Amino acid sequence: CGIVGYVGPQQASGVVLGGLKRMEYRGYDSAGVAVAADGQLVVAKKAGKLVNLEREIEANPMPTSGTAIGHTRWATHGAPNDVNAHPHTSTSGRVSVIHNGIIENFLPLRRELEAAGVVLTSQTDTEVVAHLLAAELDQGATLVEAMRGACRRLEGAFTLVALDAQQPGTVVAARRNSPLVVGLGEGENFVASDVAAFIEHTREAVELGQDQVVVITADDWEVTDFDGSPAPSTRYRVEWDLTAAEKGGHDWFMRKEIFEQPKAVADTLLGRLGPDGSLVLDEIRLSRDELRSIDKIIIIACGTASYAGLVAKYAIEHWTRIPCEVELASEFRYRDPIVSPQTLVVAISQSGETADTLMAIRHAKAQRAKVLAICNTNGSTIPRESDAVIYTHAGPEIAVASTKGFLTQVVACYLLGLYLAQVHGTKFGDEIAAVLAELEALPAQIQQVLDTTTEQAMALARELVDAPSVLFLGRHVGYPIALEGALKLKELAYIHAEGFAAGELKHGPIALVDEGLPLFVIVPPRGRDMLHDKVVSNIQEVRARGARTIVLAEGEDTEAEPYSDVLIRLPTVSTLFQPMLAIVPLQVFACELATLKGHDVDQPRNLAKSVTVE
Ligand code: G6P
Repeated sequence: CGIVGYVGPQQASGVVLGGLKRMEYRGYDSAGVAVAADGQLVVAKKAGKLVNLEREIEANPMPTSGTAIGHTRWATHGAPNDVNAHPHTSTSGRVSVIHNGIIENFLPLRRELEAAGVVLTSQTDTEVVAHLLAAELDQGATLVEAMRGACRRLEGAFTLVALDAQQPGTVVAARRNSPLVVGLGEGENFVASDVAAFIEHTREAVELGQDQVVVITADDWEVTDFDGSPAPSTRYRVEWDLTAAEKGGHDWFMRKEIFEQPKAVADTLLGRLGPDGSLVLDEIRLSRDELRSIDKIIIIACGTASYAGLVAKYAIEHWTRIPCEVELASEFRYRDPIVSPQTLVVAISQSGETADTLMAIRHAKAQRAKVLAICNTNGSTIPRESDAVIYTHAGPEIAVASTKGFLTQVVACYLLGLYLAQVHGTKFGDEIAAVLAELEALPAQIQQVLDTTTEQAMALARELVDAPSVLFLGRHVGYPIALEGALKLKELAYIHAEGFAAGELKHGPIALVDEGLPLFVIVPPRGRDMLHDKVVSNIQEVRARGARTIVLAEGEDTEAEPYSDVLIRLPTVSTLFQPMLAIVPLQVFACELATLKGHDVDQPRNLAKSVTVE
């Protein structure tokens, strides 16, 4: 979500709307503004794009005021409608709050508030904060004290910005695991989720640390921790221009999204790993009995999402022993598929609007299959029409080619697989806890891959910029990664690229291998099975025929090394977790190669982010 707060001499609602416009790329399913004027809060909010809110405010102008907060939403809890739009206001109307992130313990807090007689009006996790703040203010706390008190009770990730009718000229903000920057102007100050919101007013910024609260007035600002002690913060000057600011300093949204992957994966896991090491998927909406009756799984999806499904198939079958097929959504309903009420159809879609996938789930539902959506867009059509949903919390994906969408889809599928294994009893506590521990380790490992392989992947792109064709080989879960690596290159660089199953090489594709042909090989970790050695043999086969081998293998793999013209070293993980690491340098490579060719990486020719026609 995009968040902005302002205190100063200008008409605050206008400043805040301008800031929201700059951050619309962060989410655009609803928007809202609150201003403090004459001891009262006036709130305007509207579902849909920001323009709906702008029209509303044009029709009903907001009072003149120098203090306002505003929000553009990317829904996580609760459908994107007027009621769930931020700001959320306490029952008395005294305090308003906006929020970015996920408050993990909102359910117990909500129950506690309800037990105390508070009537909550929205389905959001955010509204509880408005009521917590109101309770503290009623007991005489100042807004900043109330914010600290509320934050001490919250778990999860949040940036919060609040406004108190009785303290005009003051905005208070807090953060944990979610971004927050302060903009320092002349006689005016700002808070925002990123500098894009205020860069047209000031370039002087302060970055807040973890678990900090900031209070701003027109002339002053002060940072403390959640207990009220002064806290360190970093002041800096923003050198980016406006477009770079929107992209967090990256040249493309795609590059920004590649680098957001550790956080996207962490956010997708947030709240789903129970304190006792078990898996929590309360949101799933299918009963245990319904889940227990499932005897077949069919994953349907398009493009990159279908490759996430292909990766997941290996894990789901391995953990649940339930047969799992993966099918392109566009093929599914035209082949008379065998579907029954015991079939679980899993529709994977980042946008939740892909027409092929939507038609496929309608077909599945008509045959009384249960449909579960894995989706990144709250309230979109596919999850609305499904019986169950697991949201990936990747945040808005703007670049047409999917990156963080893909990784979080794999993670969500793994959560589903483990949950089914838990319910079906094919995996027990310890085994599930062990896999969950591997999932929890993923964000740091993805970060490690970004830190250690990005330079190498970019150098490779410079070297291969004129290659007419690039091949990718993988086996087991590395096979869908070969397909996805090739797809990224086709989509972005418009060159011939193909992924093959390494074992299939000798049955045809090897005829393509010629002197100097760049060939990526994803080598499975050296486990107990023979897979690793077989793929190392494949590298030798293609190298003997002149291919230039670019090998992705775990760091200590000395067997693959002698046959690698370029060796990209990955952290050591178990086989099922390698795809989430191996794909990262391939994304960087494709993004860089397309950049070097002068293509528009975010909007490749002929493609659309969300294909709403069949
Ligand atoms: C389009 C996009 C792809 C995406 C596919 C599925 O073709 O260009 O990048 O993978 O749709 O999108 P979805 O939103 O359903 O995941």
